[in-house]
Amino acid sequence: MSQKPIYILAIESSCDDTGAAVLCNNKVLSNVIANQEIHTKYGGVVPELASRAHQQNIVPVVAQALKEASISKNQLSAIAFTQGPGLMGSLLVGVSFAKSMAMGLNIPLLAINHMQAHVLAHFIKHEKSKAPKFPFLCLTISGGHTQIVKLPSYFNFEILGQTTDDAVGEAFDKSAKILGLNYPGGPFIDKYAQLGNPLAFKFPNPKTKNPLDFSFSGLKTAILYFIQKQVKENSSFITQNRDDICASIQYTIINILMTKLKLAVKQTGIKQVAIAGGVSANSGIRKALQQAETDLGWQCFVPKFEYTTDNAAMIGIAGYYAYLQNNFASSNSIAKARMPL
Ligand code: KG4
Ligand code: ZN
Repeated sequence: MSQKPIYILAIESSCDDTGAAVLCNNKVLSNVIANQEIHTKYGGVVPELASRAHQQNIVPVVAQALKEASISKNQLSAIAFTQGPGLMGSLLVGVSFAKSMAMGLNIPLLAINHMQAHVLAHFIKHEKSKAPKFPFLCLTISGGHTQIVKLPSYFNFEILGQTTDDAVGEAFDKSAKILGLNYPGGPFIDKYAQLGNPLAFKFPNPKTKNPLDFSFSGLKTAILYFIQKQVKENSSFITQNRDDICASIQYTIINILMTKLKLAVKQTGIKQVAIAGGVSANSGIRKALQQAETDLGWQCFVPKFEYTTDNAAMIGIAGYYAYLQNNFASSNSIAKARMPL
């Protein structure tokens, strides 16, 4: 006998993207996202403007997600929302909206950790999906986090290493800012890196006490000083060498990530390796993992492009597994700017 399908409406509002998705079990029926262009002008996310834009976007984004999924709100089994970590003003919009809608429909709530959701995005079912088997390692690389985690099961996250200062996405974005590129600069560095020589310039590889931890603030400073010195000697240095600079920065960052990941594989003996988070869209890390499959016998898992950067479908899949475990949230659950894994 077939089980009744579970329909989950998921809401993501942790930073500057307002997202809503509808899932039927582990399949995505719709995944709508409203990006906030306003921040480009300021070279970074302005929290106050982000929460205002969420308030404007949330109702139309949810309506669009239900429409694209061709289901009515009365068919929903539960509502999943991002509880944290993230910007408090942004989270509050999603949390309050989810609570009110769940209360109006008299259906349960699922409170989701954004970082767990990035990892669980691997379990979204689609035509090309290939989910990792437990236990697996996941390198979570985003604008706010850099972690290597071990997952023995869905909601069991063991942190093996993490950043002690900047996140890897910040390293990309801050380097891009130094080069005068728009925010978020990660995709631009990636684009130009593919045209340049990765060995043209050498940048340092910062040391950490725990060899599986990361540190990117020293690298950022080294890039800043290098560029300032070169520009003093030749004011056209950046325009003349843009592709080589980007290729060298990307090469250094990917090298740092891969060195740590190889060490984690060696320490745990786990060769099932996944990546998650916005930076997993990067072409350099994707190529490096393909290489590791051939050279080191790893089995690597890269999420579908639309599930790498912030999106509500990943909140929905985490919600689906929370639902199966009857892990429902109470109506007085609160947004958490900081939320451990
Ligand atoms: O996961 P995400 O969308 O938001 C956070 O939770 O932080 O990640 C955003 C980060 C930004 O720093 C952005 O520059 C970076 O992901 N990013 C990239 C690429 N695409 C997005 N970094 C490098 N290469 C890319 N192709
Ligand atoms: Zn994220």
